[in-house]
Amino acid sequence: MSIKVSGQNVNYSDSRKHTLPIIFIHGFPFNKSSWDPQYEFLKETQRVIIYDLPGFGKSAELAGETSISSLADHLIHFMDSLKIEKAIVCGLSMGGYILLNAMERYGERFEAIVLADTQCLADNEEAAKKRFDAIKAIQENGLTEFTEGFLKNAFSKNAQETQTIIVERIRTVILSNSSLAITTALKAMAERKETCSALEKITVPALIICGEEDKLTPVSLSEFLFDQIPNSEIHIIPEAGHLSNLEKSDDFNDRLFNFISDIII
Ligand code: MLT
Repeated sequence: MSIKVSGQNVNYSDSRKHTLPIIFIHGFPFNKSSWDPQYEFLKETQRVIIYDLPGFGKSAELAGETSISSLADHLIHFMDSLKIEKAIVCGLSMGGYILLNAMERYGERFEAIVLADTQCLADNEEAAKKRFDAIKAIQENGLTEFTEGFLKNAFSKNAQETQTIIVERIRTVILSNSSLAITTALKAMAERKETCSALEKITVPALIICGEEDKLTPVSLSEFLFDQIPNSEIHIIPEAGHLSNLEKSDDFNDRLFNFISDIII
């Protein structure tokens, strides 16, 4: 289904149950289908919402400039359009950057948060340069080489060897996005500001999840979130890479379900 948010179409799925909504924000450079195992797991009992971020999947780009801050504003406008005052929100990686940014400015809109395979740091000079080099390479050569490099880093070695259907599905998802969406998000991530200094002000319950073999946002970055966020718990998923919700969906879902059960009931 789709809904207009600030005049632009957003593609989303909503299980429409009468419970506190749980909204999932996908990582870079995917679409809402990267949350399918969580949507399927929760949809019979919870109100679950997954959406394509602006420019990704079937959602229109933002009308104005895309930054992590404007994507956080967009999340709030999306909630407004759905008449959702408060939700539990879960963000993976770039989805977590968006969530932490929104948390800093719109904390009252969140009942609880889930931060999966993410971090609060801004890019240092070297990381930002890598992103701008990737933008140039994509503009010159297209998405194929970038996608292969990304997949190698995103999945654990084990998943690359044994979970080939999932890897193939994510390859298709990445390649179905436009080069423009991907380069726009790379620039937004390179220019994002840190959110570490605001972590101690988070008062809602927070669940932090990270794949033990996450190379893109390693466990130490999740441990830092856990140290700084007062009311937080952490779960490290053994043998999972950056896409821990896909590689080990049962483990991810169990932990998520325990966490939300305490909040919803
Ligand atoms: C993501 O999965 O959203 C990205 O890998 C995050 C990043 O590149 O910093």
